[in-house]
Amino acid sequence: MNAQWDDPKQPTRNQVHDYLPSGQRMTTVEENIAFQRACKEWGEAMLQHLFPGALVFMFGGTRMWHRLASGMEDAGFAMWDTIIWLHAQGFPKAQDIGRMIDQRHRNEREVLGRNPNSREASDTGNTLYKLGTVGKTDFISRGKSGWDGYKTPAMKPAWEPILCFRAPRDGLTYADLATTYGTGCLNVDGGRISVGDGAKLTTHSTSSGAAAGKGIYPPYGSVETHESPGQELGRYPSNIILDEGSAEILGEPSRFFYCAKVSKAERNAGCEDLPDCIKPGGMRTANGDAEKGHSSFDKGFQDTVQKNGHLTVKPLALTRYLATLLLPPTSVIPRRLLVPFCGSGSEMIGGEQGGWDQIVGVEQNPHFCEIAERRLKYWRMFLPGVRNDAA
Ligand SMILES: C[S@@+](CC[C@H](N)C(=O)[O-])C[C@H]1O[C@@H](n2cnc3c(N)ncnc32)[C@H](O)[C@@H]1O
Repeated sequence: MNAQWDDPKQPTRNQVHDYLPSGQRMTTVEENIAFQRACKEWGEAMLQHLFPGALVFMFGGTRMWHRLASGMEDAGFAMWDTIIWLHAQGFPKAQDIGRMIDQRHRNEREVLGRNPNSREASDTGNTLYKLGTVGKTDFISRGKSGWDGYKTPAMKPAWEPILCFRAPRDGLTYADLATTYGTGCLNVDGGRISVGDGAKLTTHSTSSGAAAGKGIYPPYGSVETHESPGQELGRYPSNIILDEGSAEILGEPSRFFYCAKVSKAERNAGCEDLPDCIKPGGMRTANGDAEKGHSSFDKGFQDTVQKNGHLTVKPLALTRYLATLLLPPTSVIPRRLLVPFCGSGSEMIGGEQGGWDQIVGVEQNPHFCEIAERRLKYWRMFLPGVRNDAA
């Protein structure tokens, strides 16, 4: 399968608009259709290794998830839900129209002040400073085109879709799938959201009106009307996952699973002896250079130095949670998880932490395989029953 579109190091002329970074490369109808076709091919390849009814979670991008979903459907998968992971930590990746117009006409721009994030303003001991890759636009400026404040169309990214598929059931019922293959079922109790010590769960109708409908009248109408087994374990897992920022905005984080984006320490743990690499965060030209004039570049926060420079590392709390939702009971032997496109291994580590017995990861890039192996080795030291001096 040709997956060049997914490799940040292999942009090709017909796949890449010069100024777009990886993840935004599919910019023509033909490229989008080609992506969907590739998704169908992956899906068909995956199906050969899955039992009937197997459940699948796939991260998608907000711009292209519909093609991914359609490709998977074309391959035979059924889509049963979409989980939304809300995180308030993304940076908008848009270009400044006013600057572009001024550059084209070689217009002078009025300098308003020094950019606080410019390279000159940063610590000279900083690795990024030494590498010379950060904040080359040192001044904040204003033009006269009338287009300052206008950008190429891109919102601040604040959510990611997690698409939920099921392999074909081959005519079997869910009970058949569970008992024959150990598939098709969601581990709801394993994924319940704890309400905290001593808190009373009131997911069921508590309003007077709803209670009256059940034949319960004030003053008793505002109490819990009924309970179901498992409720004491927490709230039923929801198709919204929040990070701290979005939980604060919504005001009721306890109703949802909470997970922030991956921290630098977590992304790099276990890879300390690998050489530094640059994780690109801003606009790239086709030859990989940072793009001048792009807002994230101007602000100087697009590149970071990492040991694990994979662009799409996921937080382990999230991958563990998703793996737990998929985990069949211990009566299924062995509980085997397939992680195609495993990158630097976050989903594999989450699978191990979630309790899966066997995990098979597939990754085309040898460097990412090496990172994944190191990370797996590191995190295994903290699995229950493993002594901390095991490595
Ligand atoms: C979105 S990343 C997954 C990263 C992962 N979430 C992590 O935490 O590191 C997808 C990975 O799939 C790999 N990939 C793409 N096409 C592939 C293929 N046909 N076979 C194997 N791996 C592939 C890419 O190299 C990339 O590392």
